[in-house]
Amino acid sequence: MTKIKTQLDVDADGVLTFLQITDTHLFAKPDGELLGVNTRESFLAVIAKVLKQARPIQGILATGDISQDHTPESYRLFAEHINQLEKPCFWLPGNHDFQPAMLAEFATAGISPAKQLVSKYWQVILLDTQELGVPHGRLKQEQLTQLQGFLDEYPDKHALVLLHHHVQPAGCKWLDQHDLKNADELFAMLKQYPQVKALVCGHIHQEMDRQYDQFRLLATPSTCIQFKPHCDDFTLDEQGPGWRYLDLLPNGDINTQVYRLADGRFAGDAKATGY
Ligand SMILES: [Fe+2]
Repeated sequence: MTKIKTQLDVDADGVLTFLQITDTHLFAKPDGELLGVNTRESFLAVIAKVLKQARPIQGILATGDISQDHTPESYRLFAEHINQLEKPCFWLPGNHDFQPAMLAEFATAGISPAKQLVSKYWQVILLDTQELGVPHGRLKQEQLTQLQGFLDEYPDKHALVLLHHHVQPAGCKWLDQHDLKNADELFAMLKQYPQVKALVCGHIHQEMDRQYDQFRLLATPSTCIQFKPHCDDFTLDEQGPGWRYLDLLPNGDINTQVYRLADGRFAGDAKATGY
């Protein structure tokens, strides 16, 4: 049986720190491009910068859309380079992922399939919101039941929930059609658990940090193309690829920072009208 729970240590101050990497959209072909951006090159540039930052982390969270072409090679490429960071990586699928290849390649590369990460003060839960063949997301009953089970198991630990799709409108009309369709159901359940501090997603290829009821909602830039905030129609942003650090503090607070590549090499095709 797949081992779904794992334990993580904290640093000397009791802090659990993660790197979040999302929406890499990798191809098997080295010259694979998404709207004019070579996603392999932008991902490698992000990894190079993260290595240079040399920030101590306990793990990496990969929040979906790892592949753009569904190939085993694209997942192998991700694994090969994420393993350069020499920290455990945990993952969940996005709408673009092909889970059979993802599972197989990550298992071969020694990347854990764990979905419940338990530490001294926190537990981190990774959800599968993929609905096959469509860009929007939905949590199946089994996912909701599993989430509830995890939260019941550790009422005294703060909880961070990760999922690919956004749970509140991002403010881009075209993108908000592709949100999590049963977010109301999710929130109705989560509101019974005061230990849930935040939900962290990918999918919207832009940074977000806002409060909704008891929950902090965070979204993180992709390592390739960026979607421009507050646009009714599909619009690319000129900002560079990004990544996020999350410090989970013993008292339940979260310190977080987004970084971006600043060199302008990965701006994408400004005339693109969709992807
Ligand atoms: Fe994506």
